[in-house]
Amino acid sequence: MNSPTLEVHLSDDDLTSALRADAELGLTADPKWLPPKWFYDARGSELFEQITQLPEYYPTRTERALLERVVGEIARSAQAEVLVELGAGSAAKTRLLLSALSTEGPLKTYVPQDVSSSALRGAAEEVSTEFPGLAVHGVVSDFTDTLRNLPRGGRRMIAFLGGTLGNLVPADRAEFLAEIHHVLEPGEHLLLGVGLVIDPEALVPAYADAAGVTAEFNRNVLHVLNSRLRADFAPEKFEHLAVWDAANEWIEMRLAATEDMTVTVADLGRTVHFARGEHLRTEISAKFRAEGLASELAAAGFRTEQVWTDDDQRFALVLAGR
Ligand code: SAH
Ligand code: AVI
Repeated sequence: MNSPTLEVHLSDDDLTSALRADAELGLTADPKWLPPKWFYDARGSELFEQITQLPEYYPTRTERALLERVVGEIARSAQAEVLVELGAGSAAKTRLLLSALSTEGPLKTYVPQDVSSSALRGAAEEVSTEFPGLAVHGVVSDFTDTLRNLPRGGRRMIAFLGGTLGNLVPADRAEFLAEIHHVLEPGEHLLLGVGLVIDPEALVPAYADAAGVTAEFNRNVLHVLNSRLRADFAPEKFEHLAVWDAANEWIEMRLAATEDMTVTVADLGRTVHFARGEHLRTEISAKFRAEGLASELAAAGFRTEQVWTDDDQRFALVLAGR
């Protein structure tokens, strides 16, 4: 077996300064907000894995079943020698893709990328063991600012699965897709997995499960602020909310203060006041329509080659060519 290599673009100190900047901006804004990447320390990544097993959280199992069905077609179209996966997490579903790309195509290298070093290390080790002939080169970075550093060395496909594209606000999404287009060469591909707009009656419970795992995941951002920035949030005093925004067609996760609170964030040298009932927005999770996504891809310069959906039209895989 080849041992995986790991390239770290984000040290612990880099993460702390980035969180300091985001917290300064988001906690002094009205309404307050934080970017969702801060859920994912080791505990957050573990909680996300638990979410993927919940009966209410349909996206992961739907995308997996869809991948099982169409992975051969994807592999034959992309003919990728290098698979780069952004926000790879545990790379659980990626094994399907790796298997098809190496049996039906010329795959040599897998480059999982993630901001969560714990998730990435685990995924890189496991994939190396399962695919002994594959070179595995992990990259710890923020996918919004290190795309240009991704390794080359053969025809690439960039995969961005799980619906994580929907966690970017539309302006960031447009910039991000254009940046991916910019780093790809003609003949290379982008594979996107996105959640589709569905009935809010089925959607909202996926983000407000009965067992309360998503609530813990949501509150984890407060634990991260406590440990990284020496804040004194009392996470149990915040209520988890999942709200469907019909105009924007996204789910918002929020944390609502259950009482008046003044929180000290020692590393920012400031206190932050929360009125009882005040909301902190922690995530948007946009859902897409096929036409809308095709026009976003076209605006970034991509050709949509194929769109596959599950029978219930809950999730789509989109193969786009440069
Ligand atoms: N792709 C996996 C995991 C999805 S969870 C799946 O489909 O199940 C989202 C993943 O993206 C997490 O592992 C998280 O750590 C990572 N992530 C979130 N924001 C990120 C960012 N800005 N840069 C890099 N990784 C990020
Ligand atoms: C990673 N991302 C696509 C998940 C989502 O569905 O937006 C994160 C998540 N948030 C709540 N549950 C899962």
